Amino acid sequence: MAGDTKIPARMTAVAISQPGGPMALKSEKRAVPELSGSEVLIRVRAAGVNRPDVLQRKGAYPPPAGASDLPGLEVAGEVAALGPDAKRWRVGDLVCALTPGGGYAQYCKVDESNALPLPAGFTMTEAAAVPETFFTVWHNVFERGGLKAGETLLVHGGTSGIGTTAIQLAKAFGATVITTAGSEEKCAACLRLGADRAIDYRKEDFVEAVKGFTDGNGANLILDMVGGDYVGRNYSAAAVEGRIVQIATQAGAVASTDFAKLMVKRLMHTGSTLRPRTVEFKGRVAAALEAQVWPLLATRRVAPLLDMIFPLREAWRAHERMEEGEHIGKIVLDVA
Ligand SMILES: NC(=O)c1ccc[n+]([C@@H]2O[C@H](COP(=O)([O-])OP(=O)(O)OC[C@H]3O[C@@H](n4cnc5c(N)ncnc54)[C@H](OP(=O)(O)O)[C@@H]3O)[C@@H](O)[C@H]2O)c1
Repeated sequence: MAGDTKIPARMTAVAISQPGGPMALKSEKRAVPELSGSEVLIRVRAAGVNRPDVLQRKGAYPPPAGASDLPGLEVAGEVAALGPDAKRWRVGDLVCALTPGGGYAQYCKVDESNALPLPAGFTMTEAAAVPETFFTVWHNVFERGGLKAGETLLVHGGTSGIGTTAIQLAKAFGATVITTAGSEEKCAACLRLGADRAIDYRKEDFVEAVKGFTDGNGANLILDMVGGDYVGRNYSAAAVEGRIVQIATQAGAVASTDFAKLMVKRLMHTGSTLRPRTVEFKGRVAAALEAQVWPLLATRRVAPLLDMIFPLREAWRAHERMEEGEHIGKIVLDVA
């Protein structure tokens, strides 16, 4: 590997010792990843925590073939070494990157195309909070969901990492945003992020609230991470020719629903998961983000909302925080 003179053979990482609760996350020594092809090694300074890490820890979301078994889907840091075919970066460049796993560690490898320059003026902890949600939202809201200026987006889970990103990006690109969240405090946070209407789903029926806010028309696009009985309710809240993009099924992957609504309104219901997609696909999303979203980060028109930062060795506390469900925005690990 080019530039590897100061890289140790072994590193500290946080691994899943066995499927289970947060305490299953244990610090251990691992070999620093070996590079091949166009991969680069990142000396990790901060790593984002995402709900899929929690699912992986519980044994419900195994890493794709060839990916590290360590949790961690996004990092920020400096390029420490280059694979034999890597051309885009130089050793010392500051980057953030989407990883297929392995972010909870001092070193992490990614394909060079899945890294992006550190957004101008961003700290490492801020930058580590960007890739996973921005790649996911860009693809599902704008590419798959086709959101256009002037349309109305309904995003469930408004204070999740995904939700906070979706609200800001949709507003920045000229959409009206309605969101759901589970408390008054969370709804207030959504409004501060720019949402036009925040629905406390524990107090209000979101279908009625969406219809009321849109003069009975419904939402043109719905980003859903809930599933279960939200499937049919989303069909009710959607506008004619509306689109629904499923990115998770936290309330259940199996639903019984009235598909007549889908036909009568000519709805499109699709979905995707990011992690198993190819390096080339992710590289294409990275290029779109760099062109269209990085300028918004540089001016802070859009920025990740940070909830709490924990040291890497206390990753278990970060997972506890996420599972308590009180967080608003992103939880990040400091990998000093
Ligand atoms: N498909 C993909 O490519 C992809 C990529 C990344 C993440 N995801 C998924 O996207 C979701 C968000 O990820 P994240 O890391 O941003 O997680 P997060 O910050 O932990 O957020 C989870 C959110 O889900 C909401 N929620 C959970 N159960 C709910 C229910 N029964 N009814 C209504 N809302 C419910 C919570 O809302 P309240 O707190 O307001 O109740 C919370 O805002 C996760 O399910 C994750 O697995 C999918």
